[in-house]
Amino acid sequence: MPEVKDQPIVKAVNVFKAFKDVKALSGVDLEIFPSEFTALLGPNGAGKTTLVEIIEGIQFPDSGEITLFGKHWNGNKDELYRQIGLSFQETKFEDKLSVAETLKLFASFYGLDKSRVDEIMNIVNLEEKRKAYVVNLSGGQRQKLALGIALLNSPKLLILDEPTTGLDPTARREIWAILHALKKNQGTSMILTTHYMEEAENLCDKIVIIDKGKVLAKGTLEQLISDSNTSEIIQFKVADRNLFPDISNFSDLREIQWEETTNLVTLHVANTSAFLPELITRLNNEGCKISELRCRYVTLDDLFIRMTGRKLTD
Ligand SMILES: Nc1ncnc2c1ncn2[C@@H]1O[C@H](COP(=O)(O)OP(=O)(O)O)[C@@H](O)[C@H]1O
Ligand SMILES: [Mg+2]
Repeated sequence: MPEVKDQPIVKAVNVFKAFKDVKALSGVDLEIFPSEFTALLGPNGAGKTTLVEIIEGIQFPDSGEITLFGKHWNGNKDELYRQIGLSFQETKFEDKLSVAETLKLFASFYGLDKSRVDEIMNIVNLEEKRKAYVVNLSGGQRQKLALGIALLNSPKLLILDEPTTGLDPTARREIWAILHALKKNQGTSMILTTHYMEEAENLCDKIVIIDKGKVLAKGTLEQLISDSNTSEIIQFKVADRNLFPDISNFSDLREIQWEETTNLVTLHVANTSAFLPELITRLNNEGCKISELRCRYVTLDDLFIRMTGRKLTD
């Protein structure tokens, strides 16, 4: 099928999947467009792996429909596998093979030669490790190898399940740089699952927030923030909650959240510079002491807490 910019290359419609009484996916709709990077962002157990494995044709939905490049898995397996590249949440390698040997082995499955192996080592920045045994690689290097394997067949669509979970910030940024370069140089499309909001924000054009098998929100970061009708956060701790005044009639207040154990207050407001002087005056009038006052822009974690009452990383 010729690729048309506004035709989705992945379309999931009303997908349900249960494991006995665990509802892993409860009516998920998803569209991925060419050359876009999409993050499936959600906490552990949200249903991310189940969803990507259904897209990958590894698991099958109880109901609902999946198409890739306009085709169903049924009857199109070989063709679809040629167009996608996968990396799993955990990849088992043969410890006694070197990096180059591992890539050569996978390259042979696709009928690719040594030159492609060299190209891949260059793309994922593993040339220095070409002779190293896989068992001796760091976590970040293993993830780069897994990414290299996913890229061998020059896929149009890359699907990565938690590619940076457990990596240190430096290794994480190195993976991000490789993915940014792929997007820029090869126009690859990507679906990536993560529970790191920074990863979704830094890498992806579209963000799909998923929890308990349902899509809670989707769009660009700007759309998610503007749909939430809040962009600014004021946070502080209250010494004595009994003295905290009723501010529910403040016109710019969108939401107030209390963290019970620490008496940390989070206010979602429309306009900090208008809100803050009024707030401070009211607190002073009531003799309500506060500490650790901070003002900042809203993050995906704030939106997630607002939607679910929990943090992404809880
Ligand atoms: N093979 C399985 N058998 C039973 N329960 C499963 C299986 N796979 C996933 N689940 C359950 O489905 C839910 C979603 O899991 P998963 O898709 O792995 O979430 P995530 O990748 O977002 O952490 C979880 O409650 C998980 O325990
Ligand atoms: Mg998972």
